Amino acid sequence: MKFLGTGRLRTVILTLLALGIIGVLGAVFFVYSGIYNVSALGQHTQPMYALIDDSLRASIRLRASALEPPPDTKTDWRNDGLLLYQAHCVQCHGAPGVAPDHFALGMTPKPTATMEMARSRSKQELFWVIKHGIKMSGMPAWEYRLTDQQMWNLVAFIRESRHLSGADYQRLAEQAQPHEPAPPQSFDRAGAGNSAVAKGHAATHQYGCVTCHVIPGVTGATSHVGPSLEGMADRAFIAGVLPNTPENMIRWLQHPQEIDPLTAMPPLGVTQEDAENMTAFLATLKADREVLP
Ligand code: HEC
Ligand code: HEC
Repeated sequence: MKFLGTGRLRTVILTLLALGIIGVLGAVFFVYSGIYNVSALGQHTQPMYALIDDSLRASIRLRASALEPPPDTKTDWRNDGLLLYQAHCVQCHGAPGVAPDHFALGMTPKPTATMEMARSRSKQELFWVIKHGIKMSGMPAWEYRLTDQQMWNLVAFIRESRHLSGADYQRLAEQAQPHEPAPPQSFDRAGAGNSAVAKGHAATHQYGCVTCHVIPGVTGATSHVGPSLEGMADRAFIAGVLPNTPENMIRWLQHPQEIDPLTAMPPLGVTQEDAENMTAFLATLKADREVLP
């Protein structure tokens, strides 16, 4: 303690400590007092908006730069890109001459206009955002619903949209030929980690399992609509009716209402591969993880 002997050093340390404590108390007050207004009727303040927008821009740029876009000849914006855009995006983002749906006009932040994203983002950046979505903004991640090729087709459509008038868009939409969607098994799950367990863990979030079940090890999975999945590996039956084997679990995850027509658990469009991965993950949820006091 000898080096603290000089009065000046002690003052500096005490001041820093006091400032730290005031900062922590201020943050606690900000969080728990309810002073922050979460209403979506107003935009953030300008400094807050700038902070969020700058970090969003930097985050996307950093992650998108390594991607390699396919050559233009390998993408189809006119048919596949436009149809996918109509099926999944126009409701929020609008299109040349087309307004977003009512619900999207009430969102904060507002979904960016298509022509604007075409102007301000590279192909790689558009692709990255479509695949990964943007946390806390309302922009969904599409990795579990669209193939990489479909997402590049969407990028190509978005890039073209800045050259389209409202009339062009209408005409192209009328000419487009609806077709069967690509088989979902070909989805690329690169973002989720390598093992089946890690992929299954990520899939419980992407299929919305977290909105109904307590799932140990999954952040935000605290709802009690369905039974807690804690100790699922040790349960003899699935939903009380089906012997708990991997085959039956895969069936349950894909078609719960075929097994129990009255169940509140909905069919969520789970692919075979994702059902297998989630089954591998659920098999790790042993009861002995539960530490009782
Ligand atoms: C439920 C509404 C919703 C749907 C559906 C939706 N988006 Fe978004 N999207 C958003 C919101 C909100 C943002 C974020 C805007 C912001 O942060 O400023 C966003 C951002 C984006 C961005 C980044 C825009 C930028 O700021 O440069 C892209 C690209 C994008 N969306 C493409 C798509 C595509 C393609 C689809 C369809 C496959 C789609 N979105 C579907 C709501 C949606
Ligand atoms: C809308 C709410 C809802 C969603 C979303 C949902 N479940 Fe369920 N789940 C239920 C309900 C309710 C039950 C109880 C079924 C019954 O007994 O009929 C259940 C039962 C189960 C069971 C059997 C539990 C037991 O104790 O036997 C498993 C395993 C399961 N769900 C996993 C999942 C997974 C994985 C997902 C995501 C792919 C998911 N659930 C999505 C509501 C939901």
